[in-house]
Amino acid sequence: MATKDEVLTELLNNDDYISGQTLAEKSGKSRAAVWKAVRSLQNDGYQIDAVTNKGYKLLNSDSLLSAQGVKRYINRDMDVIYLCSVDSTNNYCKQLLLQNKQGEFLVVADRQTAGRGRQGKSFYSPAGTGVYFSLVIRPNTSLKNAVTVTTAASVAVCKAIEGLTDKIPKIKWVNDVYVDGGKICGILTEATTNFEEGTVDSVIIGIGINLSTKSFPNDIENAGCLNAQVNKNKLVAEIVNELLKITDGNYKSFIDYYRSHSMVIGERIKFIQNGVVTPATAIAIDEAGGLLVELENGERKTLRSGEISIRKA
Ligand code: BTN
Repeated sequence: MATKDEVLTELLNNDDYISGQTLAEKSGKSRAAVWKAVRSLQNDGYQIDAVTNKGYKLLNSDSLLSAQGVKRYINRDMDVIYLCSVDSTNNYCKQLLLQNKQGEFLVVADRQTAGRGRQGKSFYSPAGTGVYFSLVIRPNTSLKNAVTVTTAASVAVCKAIEGLTDKIPKIKWVNDVYVDGGKICGILTEATTNFEEGTVDSVIIGIGINLSTKSFPNDIENAGCLNAQVNKNKLVAEIVNELLKITDGNYKSFIDYYRSHSMVIGERIKFIQNGVVTPATAIAIDEAGGLLVELENGERKTLRSGEISIRKA
């Protein structure tokens, strides 16, 4: 990480003054380099108070994504790690799990340089205009239920958006969230499993939301942004709160909400499975989140895999 990113990360992760010496030690840079980074951040608009013998403190941190900011609104005690920039928050969580990090934890970032999407796609994650985060939970449950975590995540995102804005979010099966006709959120869930016992050790739920991103790379289809005034810290925390309510309790309780927010039920669609495109009509969503479709020959089948993509016909 550049010194500036490291200094900003430390300032965002601290509620109180932090000395230049501590910042220098944490970043492995000189105090002069830290001071230069602070000046540069101030020029970028960050309100950083500098007090002799005390150090530096970020003053306008509530409007910026930060560990303390998110933690303030989460209803449960868990580690929250803020990163100015990271390749992928999911990758970062995986590294922490490999280092044997225990319990539930959350990694939030302001930018991803190699954000990942489903089916090997990338997820565009520019700085300042979105939130990108990964929650690690220990569901203590069977693999079957863990699969529905990903469906639960889209419900949590919609509930938080409805609670904090006047937007009407919709879910495109499996778990893309749309607002005003554009995809504003993608979810990538990855699990570590205990193969012998058929249980899940941990699940990484990665969520990326375009808040105000207006221009996207040409190869991204249907992208949009939330386009609403919202406190980033509160939004992330509310999504986590909603998600934990579901994963702590009855996995089935959220499915009615999911159905009522589906943007595909009753629609003509095309689904693509192993490269084969099949026209169909979306009929219903079953208790496990599977999509029941009717093919043109009247045959009905239930789509389950996240490897299937669907498009409106
Ligand atoms: C998709 O739309 O296919 C899923 C996109 C998931 C993006 C999020 S952003 C946070 C987390 N880190 C990643 O690398 N991916 C997920």
